[in-house]
Amino acid sequence: MKKRILFVCLGNICRSPTAEGVFQRAVDDAGLSDFIRVDSCGVGHWHVGKAPDERAQLAAKRRGIDISCLRARQLSANDFLVFDYVLAMDRDNLSAMRALQPPESQARVGLFLAFAGMPDAEVPDPYYGGEEGFEAVLDMIQKASEGLIAELINGRQ
Ligand code: 4NP
Repeated sequence: MKKRILFVCLGNICRSPTAEGVFQRAVDDAGLSDFIRVDSCGVGHWHVGKAPDERAQLAAKRRGIDISCLRARQLSANDFLVFDYVLAMDRDNLSAMRALQPPESQARVGLFLAFAGMPDAEVPDPYYGGEEGFEAVLDMIQKASEGLIAELINGRQ
């Protein structure tokens, strides 16, 4: 059965496109490309249509992942009807997401780092910091991606 995963942050130019790129790689490596669809978006509208932040692109590239072709879009209520998992980078994102989720939505909505065994942890916003912030984001996202892949494999019968 096909699963659809949506990663959400504030601007969709740093954390969630990084998560999309890293998780897509994990999906490809696990041979699950036919079963799992991946996307990302932001709760805000400011960066719609933009490529990921240069620093996020470079940090991903250092790990062999190209996210340059991604373009920012804003989260919509319909996303909660289309995606099976809608995963937030931080608690502010999560509050904004819950306010938009239609009552009939069956999507699993929560913090992405729960899949890294850290139920309350957030992926910190690297936008106003230095390069090391982007490396830390990648480390967290890689760990959570492994956990999410494992859950999807276990749940697939
Ligand atoms: P993101 O990072 O939510 O990880 O894409 C940010 C990008 C832009 C802004 C804030 C966070 N901003 O304030 O423009």
